[in-house]
Amino acid sequence: MTSIRQKTVWFCSSCGNESPKWMGRCPACGEWNTMVEEKVAVGKPSGAARQQGFHVPGSGQKPVPLSEIDSSAETRISLHNAEMDRILGGGLVEGSLVLIGGEPGIGKSTLSLQIPLHCSGLRTLYVTGEESARQVKLRAARLGGDDSGCLIYSETLMDNILAEARKIEPDLMVVDSVQTMFTQSIDSSPGSVSQIRETAALLLRFAKETGIPVILIGHITKEGSIAGPKILEHIVDVVLQFEGDSRGAYRILRSIKNRFGSTSELAVFEMTGKGLREVSNPSEMLIPMHEEGLSGVAVSAMLDGTRPFLIEVQALVSSAAYGTPQRSATGFDVRRLNMLLAVLEKRAGFKLGAKDVFLNMAGGLRVSDPACDLAVVAAVLSSNFDFAVPADTCFAGEVGLSGEIRPVTQTDRRINEAWRLGFKKIYVSSFGNTDNIPEGMDVVRVPDIPALCRSLFRQQP
Ligand code: TYD
Ligand code: MG
Repeated sequence: MTSIRQKTVWFCSSCGNESPKWMGRCPACGEWNTMVEEKVAVGKPSGAARQQGFHVPGSGQKPVPLSEIDSSAETRISLHNAEMDRILGGGLVEGSLVLIGGEPGIGKSTLSLQIPLHCSGLRTLYVTGEESARQVKLRAARLGGDDSGCLIYSETLMDNILAEARKIEPDLMVVDSVQTMFTQSIDSSPGSVSQIRETAALLLRFAKETGIPVILIGHITKEGSIAGPKILEHIVDVVLQFEGDSRGAYRILRSIKNRFGSTSELAVFEMTGKGLREVSNPSEMLIPMHEEGLSGVAVSAMLDGTRPFLIEVQALVSSAAYGTPQRSATGFDVRRLNMLLAVLEKRAGFKLGAKDVFLNMAGGLRVSDPACDLAVVAAVLSSNFDFAVPADTCFAGEVGLSGEIRPVTQTDRRINEAWRLGFKKIYVSSFGNTDNIPEGMDVVRVPDIPALCRSLFRQQP
């Protein structure tokens, strides 16, 4: 028997950096107060240390000339769920490790159980470390579908799980969740940094060796990252993250990393009594049907990933109750909001310095498309002057520091999406080119913010 000693090491819970002693600040990622103490056994090589990344060191393979490598497209499995297939880049790639992250109660287990139930013929091994097999059965009964190909395995020891999976050879394996799994080669408790890394590394090796795709579920830490941003994200092939309010009906699944497709994809689901329903037209949920315009509301024609859609931007501008005005934004970068307010003040002469400004993006969506700037400016001005933007008007443009309105990518697709949803007028930059404009759509080209105000509110700043 080899003697196994234990030693105490410190891991950064943000990036997984290992250190022999405690430090206030991680030297690798610069985060403060992230080092956690863990006991590891020395004498056994760690799987995570042996292989980190896509290839599998120690697989005994020889170097091959690039020209001799089979370059035919990877085999993809359709999940019979249009939104999931699209966000994965056209289906689940064989031998890929997909991480689904999100807050508790958002629907990770529901989604990953729904996939095999709605794909008849897909033999799935569903490993649950959080719920009993009976609880999974009750959930499956709510979801409906074909449960003949689904094996439920209630286990948390990775060594047993992998042995079973190699015997069964399913078409898909789901592991719920990475935080409950552990391996005996490491002595720290389940959920610790070293166990999470080891579990993910073992699953990656399993997926690559057998070609069986693995869906791994991970909880989000309080900082909003999946067990530390870099620990898992660099090991797995695909990271999908659930966003949204777990009390609300709509859930947004965003692709953060994808080795086999685009990362700017986004899918919307609605939580119903029978599981998650795909929302193929997200604009419908993001723009409520007001008959007439309300003050402080403007609609932005934005693009998330490859798909254009419209989102309602709401602003409230009121006199500051205290000495320091408050600026708060939900779903939008506060620094960007402050910048837009400064531009309005300096370049267009609006005195917003003594006003509280609150901004909200509809539907719990987080927006980073600069094309939303113009709608934010319009919503702020509309609330400030208590003047409604007509309900059939929307906006797409970026605002520059000198108050100019800059063109945004794929303006014609945004215009067409707005037209399809019944909008009659769109404000865009006068500097870009647009073609394929639907007949009847009123495209107003504005060069800067004063021109926008004149056209929109018939008001000279
Ligand atoms: P769940 O998938 O258990 O979340 P996670 O695994 O991310 O923690 O989410 C379950 C939530 O969804 C729970 O609050 C109940 C609700 N739900 C429905 O509304 N309808 C359903 O059909 C199911 C299965 C769950
Ligand atoms: Mg769960």
